[in-house]
Amino acid sequence: MRAGVATPLSLGVLVSGNGSNLQAILDAIGAGRLDARVKIVISNRAEAHALERAARAGVPARAIPHKGYASREEFDRALVAALREAGAEWIVLAGFMRILTREFLDAFPGKIINIHPALLPAFPGVNAIQQALDYGVKVTGCTVHFADPGVDGGKIIAQSAFTVEPGDTHDSLAERMHAAEHRLLVQVLGEIAGGRVVPDVPALASSER
Ligand code: GRF
Repeated sequence: MRAGVATPLSLGVLVSGNGSNLQAILDAIGAGRLDARVKIVISNRAEAHALERAARAGVPARAIPHKGYASREEFDRALVAALREAGAEWIVLAGFMRILTREFLDAFPGKIINIHPALLPAFPGVNAIQQALDYGVKVTGCTVHFADPGVDGGKIIAQSAFTVEPGDTHDSLAERMHAAEHRLLVQVLGEIAGGRVVPDVPALASSER
C-alpha cells in the first residue's frame, strides 16, 4: 500500500476498437514501468482488435455486446458484475464508445478515468481530432479525466499539448495524438499507482481513500 493505494493497481479496461491505448498500458506493465495488472478487458464490440491484444498478452478479455441488453442500466450492470468478479479496482475507458449510467459511476466511485483526443473542454464527443482540425486550432492535444455522467466531462487530471503544423491532416495529427495519449495515460496510471492522483470523491475522508 502506498498512500492508501493497493499495489499493484488492479485495472479493468473498457474498449470498443483498436486498443492502442490498452497496448500502451500492457507494454508499460510488461516493461516494469507501471506497477499495475490488467484484471480484465471488456469490449462492447466482439470484433474489437483490442480483444486480440488482450489475449496476446494473456489478459482475461470478454465481449459484452451492448445490443444484447434492453437498457443502458442493464448493460452497465453486466459490466459492473464482470469488472467486480475480475477484481478490478480502477476503471480505464480506453476508446470505449458508450455513455455510462450513474449506476456504473457509483459502482467505482471516483475511480473511473477516460482518455480523450482533444484539450477538453474543447471538442468533446466523437471525431475530436477532425473537429479541432476543422476549427483551425494551432495547438491540440489529449486529456485524461475522471468520468462523469456527461460526454467527456469530469475533472481533468492531466493534459498533453502539441502544435498543429501547416499541412497537417487528420492522419498526421492522429499519429501524434496517439503517441501523446499513450504517454499521458501511462503517466497518469503511474501517478494513481503512486498515490499522487487520488479518487475523485470530494466527500470521502482521506483516511478512507
Ligand atoms: C483514442 O483516441 C481515445 O482518446 C478515444 O478513442 C481512441 C481509442 O484509440 N477515446 P485506441 O482504441 O486506444 O487505439
